[in-house]
Amino acid sequence: MEYALCGNSGLFLPKISLGLWHNFGGVDDFSRAEKIVCTAFDCGITHFDLANNYGPPPGSAEENFGKMLKTVLAGHRDEIVVSSKAGHRMWNGPYGDGTSRKSMIASCDQSLRRTGLEYFDIFYAHRYDGITPAEETAQALADLVKSGKALYAGISKFPPEIAEKTFSYLRSRDVPCLVVQDRYSLFERAPEKEKLSLAQAQGAGFIAFSPLAQGLLTDKYLNGIPENSRAANPNGFLQRNQVTEEKITAAKQLNALARERGQSLAQMAISWLLKNPQVTSVLVGASSEKQLLENLASTKNTNFSAEELAAIDAIAPAPSV
Ligand SMILES: NC(=O)c1ccc[n+]([C@@H]2O[C@H](COP(=O)([O-])OP(=O)(O)OC[C@H]3O[C@@H](n4cnc5c(N)ncnc54)[C@H](OP(=O)(O)O)[C@@H]3O)[C@@H](O)[C@H]2O)c1
Repeated sequence: MEYALCGNSGLFLPKISLGLWHNFGGVDDFSRAEKIVCTAFDCGITHFDLANNYGPPPGSAEENFGKMLKTVLAGHRDEIVVSSKAGHRMWNGPYGDGTSRKSMIASCDQSLRRTGLEYFDIFYAHRYDGITPAEETAQALADLVKSGKALYAGISKFPPEIAEKTFSYLRSRDVPCLVVQDRYSLFERAPEKEKLSLAQAQGAGFIAFSPLAQGLLTDKYLNGIPENSRAANPNGFLQRNQVTEEKITAAKQLNALARERGQSLAQMAISWLLKNPQVTSVLVGASSEKQLLENLASTKNTNFSAEELAAIDAIAPAPSV
């Protein structure tokens, strides 16, 4: 595994990180989840990404990871980076959602209890809630770091202007924003417009989540929606109606290009992100060890010819500036 420094910090992150959004909840097979986490760690993945609401039921991915920390990962706490987040609906009433100081701090305390951790390595505001002033959320993040509940602060899915205010507040409190986490893949290239360069200019790293567009950038859906897929799973965030003809046509064309490169489509989609030095880490999901191992091999082939890049752009265009 290769590691990259996260922005201007001294923290190395693996080029591929593992996210526990799907497949690690209370409804999932625990021993399979444990195998995926152990395989990841054995392959050098030192960064595991959680959030308060990951499950289902919400909170159960943190509980399950907490169990692993006490068993299969026991003794390895200082070898791994664990992140969690608050900002999406988690409990009833006005404080169980959003990024007010009240919600952020209560949620972090709950997440620490569920995982059994004393601190998170990275704690994120999971989203901009459209209501809370950027400074209030940033103050909560800075105070979580200053109180020892988190080592670093991060932001996710923040509009650029709110991100700028957050960077500036955090810097004024001596808690520079470590990292920006955003959706980035061949099917979602919006970060190329502004977010990648903004993170870099502010000295923050950038983590690309849903690099496979939840599975659309694999060979899984090329011939319909299989039973064992996120789109067919009633608990899956990917809806059947998101598996559109347009996406599948593009995936088939990309798949042909990937084959010419000697890669699977999933591998090419990840390699394409890895080649970009502005991307600190690619945050993948996996429903089996086999998928994870396939995806990890992406690190072996991150060189693209100008012709290949042009062919990719023709199928999955960059955003217009
Ligand atoms: N900050 C945020 O708001 C936010 C939002 C979303 C995600 N995230 C983070 O990003 C992480 C990754 O997101 P994601 O799960 O959407 O990532 P993804 O890598 O785009 O999708 C992962 C899914 O694709 C399928 N897949 C993976 N490898 C495959 C392969 N080689 N062949 C065929 N299918 C394959 C699997 O689904 P099936 O096998 O079940 O079909 C797998 O669960 C999350 O766990 C979370 O930590 C953050």
